[in-house]
Amino acid sequence: MIAKPCKTDFALEGKVAVVTGAASGIGLSIAELFAEKGAKVYMTDRNAAALENAAAAVPGSRALALDVSDPVSVDRVISTVEAETGEIDVLVNSAGVGDIEWAEAMSPETWRKVIEINLSGTFFVSQRVGQGMIRRGQGGRIVSLASQAGIVAIDKHVAYSASKAGIISMTRSLAYEWGKYAIGVNCISPTATETPIIVGYWDEPERMAKTLTNTPAGRYCKPIEVAAAALFLASDASTMITGENLVIDGGYTIH
Ligand SMILES: NC(=O)c1ccc[n+]([C@@H]2O[C@H](COP(=O)([O-])OP(=O)(O)OC[C@H]3O[C@@H](n4cnc5c(N)ncnc54)[C@H](O)[C@@H]3O)[C@@H](O)[C@H]2O)c1
Repeated sequence: MIAKPCKTDFALEGKVAVVTGAASGIGLSIAELFAEKGAKVYMTDRNAAALENAAAAVPGSRALALDVSDPVSVDRVISTVEAETGEIDVLVNSAGVGDIEWAEAMSPETWRKVIEINLSGTFFVSQRVGQGMIRRGQGGRIVSLASQAGIVAIDKHVAYSASKAGIISMTRSLAYEWGKYAIGVNCISPTATETPIIVGYWDEPERMAKTLTNTPAGRYCKPIEVAAAALFLASDASTMITGENLVIDGGYTIH
Protein backbone atom coordinates (compact mmCIF):
# COMPACT_ATOMS: atom_id res chain seq x y z
CA MET A 1 0.00 0.00 0.00
CA ILE A 2 1.34 3.42 -1.01
CA ALA A 3 1.52 5.93 1.85
CA LYS A 4 -0.89 8.78 1.10
CA PRO A 5 -0.92 11.26 3.98
CA CYS A 6 -4.03 13.30 4.57
CA LYS A 7 -3.80 17.03 3.80
CA THR A 8 -6.48 19.53 4.74
CA ASP A 9 -5.97 22.42 2.32
CA PHE A 10 -8.29 20.94 -0.35
CA ALA A 11 -5.73 22.05 -2.94
CA LEU A 12 -5.43 20.31 -6.31
CA GLU A 13 -2.22 22.08 -7.39
CA GLY A 14 -0.14 19.94 -9.73
CA LYS A 15 -2.93 17.42 -10.21
CA VAL A 16 -4.46 16.35 -13.51
CA ALA A 17 -8.23 15.87 -13.39
CA VAL A 18 -10.56 14.43 -16.04
CA VAL A 19 -14.24 15.39 -15.75
CA THR A 20 -16.88 13.73 -17.93
CA GLY A 21 -20.15 15.52 -18.71
CA ALA A 22 -18.28 18.78 -18.13
CA ALA A 23 -20.19 20.87 -20.68
CA SER A 24 -23.14 21.44 -18.37
CA GLY A 25 -24.56 21.45 -14.87
CA ILE A 26 -22.73 19.56 -12.13
CA GLY A 27 -19.77 18.51 -14.30
CA LEU A 28 -19.18 22.11 -15.35
CA SER A 29 -19.35 23.34 -11.75
CA ILE A 30 -16.83 20.64 -10.74
CA ALA A 31 -14.48 21.63 -13.59
CA GLU A 32 -14.67 25.29 -12.54
CA LEU A 33 -13.99 24.51 -8.87
CA PHE A 34 -11.15 22.09 -9.59
CA ALA A 35 -9.46 24.65 -11.88
CA GLU A 36 -9.83 27.28 -9.14
CA LYS A 37 -8.13 24.85 -6.74
CA GLY A 38 -5.15 24.51 -9.09
CA ALA A 39 -5.87 21.37 -11.12
CA LYS A 40 -5.15 21.00 -14.81
CA VAL A 41 -8.68 20.07 -15.87
CA TYR A 42 -9.54 18.01 -18.93
CA MET A 43 -13.19 18.75 -19.67
CA THR A 44 -14.93 16.03 -21.69
CA ASP A 45 -18.46 15.71 -23.05
CA ARG A 46 -20.22 14.23 -26.07
CA ASN A 47 -21.73 17.64 -26.89
CA ALA A 48 -18.65 19.14 -28.54
CA ALA A 49 -20.13 22.58 -29.24
CA ALA A 50 -21.38 23.13 -25.68
CA LEU A 51 -18.09 21.78 -24.38
CA GLU A 52 -16.02 24.33 -26.33
CA ASN A 53 -18.13 27.18 -24.90
CA ALA A 54 -17.95 25.82 -21.37
CA ALA A 55 -14.19 25.22 -21.47
CA ALA A 56 -13.55 28.75 -22.75
CA ALA A 57 -14.64 30.02 -19.32
CA VAL A 58 -12.49 27.60 -17.29
CA PRO A 59 -8.89 28.85 -17.04
CA GLY A 60 -6.20 26.41 -18.19
CA SER A 61 -8.70 23.71 -19.11
CA ARG A 62 -8.60 21.58 -22.23
CA ALA A 63 -11.75 20.31 -24.00
CA LEU A 64 -11.91 16.84 -25.55
CA ALA A 65 -15.08 15.37 -27.10
CA LEU A 66 -15.93 12.02 -25.52
CA ASP A 67 -18.84 9.59 -25.62
CA VAL A 68 -18.52 7.62 -22.37
CA SER A 69 -20.67 4.77 -23.70
CA ASP A 70 -18.14 4.05 -26.49
CA PRO A 71 -15.03 2.24 -25.19
CA VAL A 72 -13.08 3.20 -28.35
CA SER A 73 -13.78 6.91 -27.73
CA VAL A 74 -12.87 6.43 -24.05
CA ASP A 75 -9.53 4.79 -24.87
CA ARG A 76 -8.68 7.48 -27.43
CA VAL A 77 -9.40 10.39 -25.10
CA ILE A 78 -7.76 8.92 -21.98
CA SER A 79 -4.70 7.94 -24.05
CA THR A 80 -4.50 11.56 -25.27
CA VAL A 81 -4.60 12.91 -21.71
CA GLU A 82 -1.96 10.41 -20.58
CA ALA A 83 0.29 11.30 -23.55
CA GLU A 84 -0.01 15.02 -22.78
CA THR A 85 0.40 14.84 -19.01
CA GLY A 86 1.87 11.44 -18.16
CA GLU A 87 -0.64 11.02 -15.38
CA ILE A 88 -4.26 11.30 -14.32
CA ASP A 89 -4.69 11.92 -10.59
CA VAL A 90 -8.44 12.45 -10.45
CA LEU A 91 -11.43 11.24 -12.46
CA VAL A 92 -14.95 12.57 -11.99
CA ASN A 93 -17.73 10.69 -13.81
CA SER A 94 -20.52 13.22 -14.24
CA ALA A 95 -21.80 12.34 -17.74
CA GLY A 96 -25.35 11.11 -17.52
CA VAL A 97 -28.86 11.20 -18.97
CA GLY A 98 -32.17 11.42 -17.16
CA ASP A 99 -34.67 9.86 -19.59
CA ILE A 100 -37.76 8.98 -17.58
CA GLU A 101 -40.94 6.97 -18.21
CA TRP A 102 -43.43 4.86 -16.31
CA ALA A 103 -42.00 1.35 -16.01
CA GLU A 104 -44.82 -0.29 -17.95
CA ALA A 105 -44.29 2.06 -20.91
CA MET A 106 -40.49 2.22 -21.06
CA SER A 107 -39.09 1.10 -24.40
CA PRO A 108 -36.10 -1.26 -24.62
CA GLU A 109 -34.24 1.56 -26.40
CA THR A 110 -34.69 3.97 -23.49
CA TRP A 111 -33.74 1.33 -20.92
CA ARG A 112 -30.59 0.41 -22.86
CA LYS A 113 -29.63 4.06 -23.47
CA VAL A 114 -29.83 5.01 -19.78
CA ILE A 115 -27.92 1.92 -18.63
CA GLU A 116 -25.34 2.27 -21.42
CA ILE A 117 -24.51 5.89 -20.68
CA ASN A 118 -24.97 6.13 -16.91
CA LEU A 119 -23.74 2.73 -15.76
CA SER A 120 -21.63 1.21 -18.55
CA GLY A 121 -20.14 4.61 -19.43
CA THR A 122 -19.08 5.20 -15.82
CA PHE A 123 -17.46 1.77 -15.79
CA PHE A 124 -15.68 2.17 -19.15
CA VAL A 125 -14.06 5.46 -18.13
CA SER A 126 -13.22 4.29 -14.59
CA GLN A 127 -11.68 1.08 -15.92
CA ARG A 128 -9.52 2.88 -18.50
CA VAL A 129 -8.35 5.57 -16.08
CA GLY A 130 -7.83 2.95 -13.36
CA GLN A 131 -5.55 0.93 -15.67
CA GLY A 132 -3.27 3.96 -16.03
CA MET A 133 -3.32 4.70 -12.30
CA ILE A 134 -2.38 1.08 -11.52
CA ARG A 135 0.43 1.10 -14.12
CA ARG A 136 1.99 4.28 -12.74
CA GLY A 137 1.70 3.15 -9.12
CA GLN A 138 0.96 6.62 -7.72
CA GLY A 139 -2.62 6.00 -6.65
CA GLY A 140 -5.51 8.28 -7.57
CA ARG A 141 -9.05 9.34 -6.78
CA ILE A 142 -12.26 8.46 -8.68
CA VAL A 143 -15.58 10.15 -7.91
CA SER A 144 -18.80 9.17 -9.72
CA LEU A 145 -22.20 10.82 -9.80
CA ALA A 146 -24.82 8.43 -8.46
CA SER A 147 -28.13 9.87 -7.18
CA GLN A 148 -30.70 9.75 -4.40
CA ALA A 149 -32.68 7.82 -7.03
CA GLY A 150 -30.19 4.99 -6.53
CA ILE A 151 -31.33 4.75 -2.89
CA VAL A 152 -35.08 5.45 -2.85
CA ALA A 153 -37.83 4.81 -5.40
CA ILE A 154 -38.98 7.76 -7.51
CA ASP A 155 -41.81 7.79 -10.10
CA LYS A 156 -40.74 7.12 -13.72
CA HIS A 157 -37.09 6.57 -12.73
CA VAL A 158 -36.84 2.78 -13.15
CA ALA A 159 -33.88 2.75 -15.56
CA TYR A 160 -32.22 5.82 -14.04
CA SER A 161 -32.53 4.41 -10.51
CA ALA A 162 -31.16 1.03 -11.60
CA SER A 163 -28.21 2.76 -13.29
CA LYS A 164 -27.43 4.82 -10.20
CA ALA A 165 -27.81 1.89 -7.77
CA GLY A 166 -25.40 0.09 -10.11
CA ILE A 167 -22.90 2.93 -9.74
CA ILE A 168 -23.14 2.74 -5.94
CA SER A 169 -22.46 -1.00 -6.07
CA MET A 170 -19.72 -0.69 -8.71
CA THR A 171 -18.03 1.94 -6.54
CA ARG A 172 -17.70 -0.58 -3.70
CA SER A 173 -16.33 -3.26 -6.07
CA LEU A 174 -13.70 -0.93 -7.58
CA ALA A 175 -12.74 0.40 -4.14
CA TYR A 176 -12.35 -3.15 -2.86
CA GLU A 177 -10.17 -4.28 -5.77
CA TRP A 178 -8.09 -1.09 -6.11
CA GLY A 179 -7.44 -0.21 -2.46
CA LYS A 180 -4.08 -1.95 -2.69
CA TYR A 181 -3.09 0.51 -5.41
CA ALA A 182 -4.07 3.53 -3.25
CA ILE A 183 -6.90 4.36 -5.63
CA GLY A 184 -9.83 5.78 -3.69
CA VAL A 185 -13.19 5.21 -5.38
CA ASN A 186 -16.31 6.96 -4.10
CA CYS A 187 -19.63 8.25 -5.38
CA ILE A 188 -21.93 11.11 -4.51
CA SER A 189 -25.72 11.07 -4.53
CA PRO A 190 -27.38 14.45 -4.93
CA THR A 191 -31.05 15.24 -4.62
CA ALA A 192 -32.64 17.29 -7.44
CA THR A 193 -29.98 19.82 -8.39
CA GLU A 194 -30.63 22.97 -10.40
CA THR A 195 -29.29 21.94 -13.82
CA PRO A 196 -30.91 21.28 -17.24
CA ILE A 197 -31.46 17.60 -16.38
CA ILE A 198 -34.31 18.38 -13.92
CA VAL A 199 -36.38 20.45 -16.37
CA GLY A 200 -39.80 18.91 -17.07
CA TYR A 201 -39.89 16.66 -14.00
CA TRP A 202 -38.49 18.19 -10.81
CA ASP A 203 -39.57 21.70 -11.79
CA GLU A 204 -43.23 20.67 -12.23
CA PRO A 205 -44.92 22.82 -9.49
CA GLU A 206 -46.96 20.10 -7.73
CA ARG A 207 -44.05 17.65 -7.61
CA MET A 208 -41.64 20.36 -6.50
CA ALA A 209 -43.91 21.40 -3.61
CA LYS A 210 -44.32 17.78 -2.46
CA THR A 211 -40.58 17.06 -2.72
CA LEU A 212 -39.58 20.18 -0.85
CA THR A 213 -42.05 19.35 1.92
CA ASN A 214 -40.24 16.03 2.29
CA THR A 215 -36.80 17.64 2.20
CA PRO A 216 -35.74 18.88 5.65
CA ALA A 217 -33.50 21.53 4.03
CA GLY A 218 -36.60 22.74 2.14
CA ARG A 219 -34.91 23.37 -1.17
CA TYR A 220 -33.17 21.78 -4.16
CA CYS A 221 -29.40 21.54 -4.39
CA LYS A 222 -27.07 23.97 -6.20
CA PRO A 223 -24.39 22.53 -8.51
CA ILE A 224 -21.61 24.11 -6.41
CA GLU A 225 -22.83 22.17 -3.35
CA VAL A 226 -22.23 18.94 -5.29
CA ALA A 227 -18.89 20.24 -6.59
CA ALA A 228 -17.75 20.96 -3.02
CA ALA A 229 -18.35 17.32 -2.07
CA ALA A 230 -16.54 16.16 -5.20
CA LEU A 231 -13.59 18.37 -4.24
CA PHE A 232 -13.38 16.77 -0.80
CA LEU A 233 -13.39 13.27 -2.31
CA ALA A 234 -10.89 14.25 -5.04
CA SER A 235 -8.47 15.94 -2.66
CA ASP A 236 -5.91 14.56 -0.25
CA ALA A 237 -8.30 15.42 2.59
CA SER A 238 -10.18 12.14 2.04
CA THR A 239 -7.35 9.65 1.57
CA MET A 240 -8.84 7.12 4.02
CA ILE A 241 -12.35 7.22 2.50
CA THR A 242 -13.13 4.66 -0.19
CA GLY A 243 -16.17 2.71 -1.39
CA GLU A 244 -18.52 5.31 0.08
CA ASN A 245 -21.64 6.99 -1.23
CA LEU A 246 -21.88 10.55 0.06
CA VAL A 247 -25.51 11.65 -0.02
CA ILE A 248 -26.14 15.35 -0.72
CA ASP A 249 -29.89 15.58 -0.37
CA GLY A 250 -30.78 18.06 2.36
CA GLY A 251 -32.17 15.06 4.27
CA TYR A 252 -34.59 13.75 1.60
CA THR A 253 -33.61 10.08 2.08
CA ILE A 254 -33.31 10.03 5.90
CA HIS A 255 -37.00 9.41 6.57
N1 LIG B 1 -29.23 17.51 -11.55
C1 LIG B 1 -29.74 16.58 -10.74
O1 LIG B 1 -30.83 16.73 -10.17
C2 LIG B 1 -28.94 15.33 -10.44
C3 LIG B 1 -29.24 14.63 -9.25
C4 LIG B 1 -28.54 13.46 -8.98
C5 LIG B 1 -27.55 13.02 -9.85
N2 LIG B 1 -27.30 13.73 -10.98
C6 LIG B 1 -26.27 13.21 -11.88
O2 LIG B 1 -25.26 14.17 -12.03
C7 LIG B 1 -24.65 14.02 -13.31
C8 LIG B 1 -24.63 15.37 -14.02
O3 LIG B 1 -25.97 15.77 -14.25
P1 LIG B 1 -26.36 17.29 -14.52
O4 LIG B 1 -27.47 17.61 -13.63
O5 LIG B 1 -25.15 18.13 -14.52
O6 LIG B 1 -26.97 17.13 -15.99
P2 LIG B 1 -26.69 17.96 -17.33
O7 LIG B 1 -27.66 17.46 -18.31
O8 LIG B 1 -26.62 19.40 -17.02
O9 LIG B 1 -25.20 17.48 -17.75
C9 LIG B 1 -24.95 16.17 -18.18
C10 LIG B 1 -23.87 16.24 -19.25
O10 LIG B 1 -23.55 14.87 -19.62
C11 LIG B 1 -23.34 14.88 -21.02
N3 LIG B 1 -23.51 13.55 -21.58
C12 LIG B 1 -24.66 12.87 -21.76
N4 LIG B 1 -24.41 11.68 -22.34
C13 LIG B 1 -23.08 11.61 -22.52
C14 LIG B 1 -22.21 10.63 -23.09
N5 LIG B 1 -22.68 9.49 -23.62
N6 LIG B 1 -20.89 10.88 -23.10
C15 LIG B 1 -20.38 12.03 -22.60
N7 LIG B 1 -21.16 13.02 -22.09
C16 LIG B 1 -22.49 12.79 -22.05
C17 LIG B 1 -24.35 15.88 -21.57
O11 LIG B 1 -24.00 16.33 -22.87
C18 LIG B 1 -24.30 16.97 -20.50
O12 LIG B 1 -23.37 17.98 -20.83
C19 LIG B 1 -25.45 12.95 -14.04
O13 LIG B 1 -24.79 11.71 -13.92
C20 LIG B 1 -26.76 12.93 -13.29
O14 LIG B 1 -27.41 11.71 -13.38
C21 LIG B 1 -27.96 14.88 -11.29
